[in-house]
Amino acid sequence: MFTHIHSAAVLGLDCISITAEVDIAGSWPGYQIVGLADASIQEAKERIRTAWKNTGLTFPSNARIVINLAPADVRKVGSAYDLPMAVGMFVASEQIDHELEDALIVGELALDGNVRHVNGVLPMAIFARDNGYKKLYVPEVNAKEASIIHEVSVFPVQNFKEMIDDITGKKKLQKITPVPVTEWFEEQQNDLDMAYIKGQGFVKRALEIAASGSHNILLSGPPGSGKTLLARTLPSILPRMSIHEAIDVTKIYSVAGMLPPGKPIVSERPFRAPHHSASGVALVGGGKFPRPGEISLAHRGVLFLDEFPEFPRTVLENLRQPLEDGVVSISRAQGTTTFPAIFTLVASQNPCPCGYASDPDKPCHCSPMHIARYQKKVSGPLLDRIDLHTEVPRINFDKLSQNELAESSASIRERVEAAREIQERRFRNTLYATNSEMKNKHIKEFCTLDDTSIDLLRQAVTHMHLSARSYHRIIKLSRTIADLATSKNIRTPHVAEALQYRTKVGE
Ligand SMILES: Nc1ncnc2c1ncn2[C@@H]1O[C@H](COP(=O)(O)OP(=O)(O)OP(=O)(O)O)[C@@H](O)[C@H]1O
Ligand SMILES: [Mg+2]
Repeated sequence: MFTHIHSAAVLGLDCISITAEVDIAGSWPGYQIVGLADASIQEAKERIRTAWKNTGLTFPSNARIVINLAPADVRKVGSAYDLPMAVGMFVASEQIDHELEDALIVGELALDGNVRHVNGVLPMAIFARDNGYKKLYVPEVNAKEASIIHEVSVFPVQNFKEMIDDITGKKKLQKITPVPVTEWFEEQQNDLDMAYIKGQGFVKRALEIAASGSHNILLSGPPGSGKTLLARTLPSILPRMSIHEAIDVTKIYSVAGMLPPGKPIVSERPFRAPHHSASGVALVGGGKFPRPGEISLAHRGVLFLDEFPEFPRTVLENLRQPLEDGVVSISRAQGTTTFPAIFTLVASQNPCPCGYASDPDKPCHCSPMHIARYQKKVSGPLLDRIDLHTEVPRINFDKLSQNELAESSASIRERVEAAREIQERRFRNTLYATNSEMKNKHIKEFCTLDDTSIDLLRQAVTHMHLSARSYHRIIKLSRTIADLATSKNIRTPHVAEALQYRTKVGE
């Protein structure tokens, strides 16, 4: 008998339909999987056979089994088709009618018949909804993740036996009751709070601006001045994610198989801090079957590169295109995969190898040649993409020993969220969420400057030899500073403040 079962393959963050066609006929033994299936799928033959046996069923060893994973021109990888193929084989061998025409099935089989976790279940649930499938059978561990999409009935499958009992009508599987997505958005717990960081008002202000408009920031200063501490405290002032943003981010974590255990949705903005030994592929994504890298895992959140100049230059240069476009495209012989990568870059560095070149009190022991060589480790084009160049000075004893607390992160976050709301209204009919994402068309529409501001910018661009990119980035930064001040128009003080953060680039 011939039958077919629907499944799906994840390509990047999207899915395509895969059909497991199964034919069991004749009395010659044979067992074949065709349809551009790679080694991991060929191994499924043994997984299915053993799971089948350990479930207490009789494997149709005396028949010729042919499974075709259609469409045949798309390469199939991974173990997610084990369950649909096994279900197809059962239906074809037992010659029973099934009610799976409007169902998608995914899951890996263990030898004992248990159904194991697969990656990318959230994109599959979205695909099921958008393509009119009513039911989705997924491994039990993935069920909560799939149930975020309420329009599809999600059936958690613990083992092959349960699936068979459902098909034969012996014992129907129960669909999962979806939990309202908002329930996963509990109050964030941050151990770090700006209130406990003494002094550094200028740096905190720069971080507030960075958080408000998602602008890239570089913290530069002597050892122990608090750069790493300040950067790691940034998540406590980041605006909370909207449900829409959270689902976008969760899709990436779902595909990467990195969803936190027991939690089906990433509800807090990601903060990724890869070590400087990270490879280019780890940072931007890639591999034979492209996986998202750190920049995509930081989507809608922060990518923190501590000890910036210690990253190999070739690795850092990979950031240039995604920093401009907000996406990374990975080309392979089979096609191009695109992952979103809209993130705030936070970088920290010492000004020289010994670290004290910018310290007014402590002598620096580096030769000008050493300083120049150290600073050259990060390329000009990359620095040009950073909007806020901020000095983090060593703070004195009086400030450090003060008892009173500084402004709390919660209070700073209120201002940041107010500024984000203004941006949300501004970009309602566009694909953008923050000022830093504006293209020239939007700069023209939303960033009108008065004559004094234009004069100020003209002088700055001329004297500081700023690039066209810097010019546009300064205007976008001014827009965020104006939003923080709840000012409808950008005024000269906003532009002047934005320019302060550029001085280093123009030197
Ligand atoms: N402004 C501050 N208020 C309170 N504690 C601070 C402050 N600055 C630094 N510290 C303390 O100093 C420690 C070291 O700071 P941090 O690691 O952030 O320095 P750094 O600038 O990153 O140094 P390096 O250049 O060596 O990486 C912090 O963990 C914190 O305990
Ligand atoms: Mg540090």
